[in-house]
This record gives sequence, C-alpha cells and structure tokens, in this order.
Amino acid sequence: MIDFRPFYQQIATSPLSDWLETLPLQIKEWEKQTHGDYAKWSKIIDFLPDLTADTVDLKNAVKCDRTYPLSEGEKQRIIHHLKQLMPWRKGPYHLFGIHVDCEWRSDFKWERVLPHLAPLKDRTILDVGCGSGYHMWRMLGEGAKMVVGIDPTELFLCQFEAVRKLLNNDRRVNLIPLGIEQMQPLAAFDTVFSMGVLYHRKSPLDHLTQLKNQLKKSGELVLETLVVDGDANTVLVPSDRYAKMKNVYFIPSVAALINWLEKVGFTHVRCVDVAPTTVEEQRKTDWLENESLIDFLDPNDPSKTIEGYPAPKRAVILANK
Ligand SMILES: C[S@@+](CC[C@H](N)C(=O)[O-])C[C@H]1O[C@@H](n2cnc3c(N)ncnc32)[C@H](O)[C@@H]1O
Repeated sequence: MIDFRPFYQQIATSPLSDWLETLPLQIKEWEKQTHGDYAKWSKIIDFLPDLTADTVDLKNAVKCDRTYPLSEGEKQRIIHHLKQLMPWRKGPYHLFGIHVDCEWRSDFKWERVLPHLAPLKDRTILDVGCGSGYHMWRMLGEGAKMVVGIDPTELFLCQFEAVRKLLNNDRRVNLIPLGIEQMQPLAAFDTVFSMGVLYHRKSPLDHLTQLKNQLKKSGELVLETLVVDGDANTVLVPSDRYAKMKNVYFIPSVAALINWLEKVGFTHVRCVDVAPTTVEEQRKTDWLENESLIDFLDPNDPSKTIEGYPAPKRAVILANK
C-alpha cells in the first residue's frame, strides 16, 4: 500500500503544514473505501525493481537512464508490470530505455503552456487533476521547490508511484488521491494548475473559487480547458455526451471564461493560447486498449465531434489572486 507518512513529515515544516489538520484523517477514510483493484495496482509498484538512474532529464522530457543498460529480459519484465496499469493516458515517459507511449502527448500541452508562466523556480506548486503526474515532473524540471498533485483516480496514483519509483524515488513530487473540493483552503501555493478539469466539474465557478483558495496572495493560476467560439454569453452545455465523454458539463468561450474568473475575484486575467486538439496529440497506442480522438470525431467532418458539437479546442488562461 502507498505510504503517505513521508509526505506528512515533509510538509510539517513547510508552508503547507496547516494541511496536517485534515489530510491524514481524510487519507485514513480514503484507505477504507478504495477501488476494488487498488490493492492489485499498488502491488505492481512493489514488483518493480529498485533501480538507480544515473541520468534524469525532466527539463526536456520525463526521462531517466543508467550507464549500464538493462538487459532485454529486465526491460520486458518492467514493461509487463507497467502494462498491468493500463490505460496510460498522459505521458510519454522514457524510463531506462522503455518508451511508455501514452494516449496523450502531454509534452505538446507543456510546450503551449510553459513559455507564458511566471518562472517556476523555487515555487511551491499545486497541480489539480494531475493524472499520472506527467506535468508535475516537468514542473520539477523547471526548478520548482515542491510539487503536489491532487487527483481522485486511484489508477493514476499507482501509475504516478510506479514512475516515481523508477525516477530514483524522488520525493519532491507527491500525488494525493483527493478531489479539489475535499481540500482545505491553504492559501499556500505560488502557482496552481488546473488543466483539463474545469469541464468535468458540475459547478465551474465553485471550481475556480476552490483554486483561488489554494493560492497565496498574488500567486498565479494556470487554467487550461476546452473552449468554444463565441462571445461572453456563449457556453456549450452538452445534452448528453461530448466526444463520447459522459462527464462534460460546461464548455465556455474564452470571453465567458475570462468573465467567470473576474467574477470570482481573479485579477490580470489573460488568455495566452488557443489550439485545436489534433490526432497527433491524442491517439491510440500500445499502452491503452480504448478508443481515442479519431473515434470521437465525425468521420465525414473532423471539425465536429461524433455528436455534432464543435471538435475539441483548448485555451490556456492565466490569472492572479
Ligand atoms: C483530462 S484529465 C487532465 C490531466 C492533466 N491535468 C492534463 O492536463 O493532461 C482530468 C483529470 O482530472 C481528474 N479529476 C476528476 N475530478 C477531479 C476533482 N474533483 N479534483 C481533482 N481532479 C479531478 C481526473 O481523475 C483526471 O485525471
């Protein structure tokens, strides 16, 4: 089972120490009602070998290796274990010569986001809805002091812990298996990321307020989400599925999103990037069995989803508290 006590020790003497009022108890409760497969997934982390990486590159990729390469047999054993944690959605990871080729090229998103950010060096960062943690490693690669992710999906926690083990068990990055709405307001983070989460929330303004509650005064919010074309009054609320996803609630225009952020009290709100999602960025690989973007679009008109809505387009918005 995954042990969160080293994280508690780590934050005890940090600006996140107030979190100890609620977190250990919440994790105890969480441990009582984990997913049926959690025990099996968390064992896979134990099956992975304790390797030491001689080189780790988090600045240009999430990559590690050692001078003396793994044998083909050792590689195949690690691949076998990691594949028990499929589907691998966010990546890619390059671990000791193994290419974990995930559904999403999360590095594409990082390249769209990074050039616009206040430098991450020495910052304490929260990544809300961090998935398997790909972007958290890249944040560390930019010199962040500490990165905490929260994400309630237990499979992603196990993927994260598997990658962490292979990355010399680096403890400067941690994933807590909670939803943002369960987190006590800490007002302690220099930067808060929410990427790919807003449209999954039933109450988007509450989500924005929850993000604000985690930021220090004048800290930076990085919000990345699906958008549609239109004016400040345009918001798509899909009647059922959007691109085959069940849990999509609100897809605003950029102008509407800026309005929402200002309404909840953010300042200096600016959109720094808008880009359509391409079939190069989200695609089927050997690391997932499921369908991918190509199956979610209208085969006769890729500018539309299979349900007839505008095809996915995503914006990056920055704002300050
Ligand atoms: C589309 S993925 C985005 C992953 C990553 N941030 C990225 O941009 O590639 C959405 C993530 O949000 C997580 N999530 C869903 N509900 C959440 C909540 N209430 N609080 C935090 N994360 C949540 C999901 O488990 C999933 O990993």
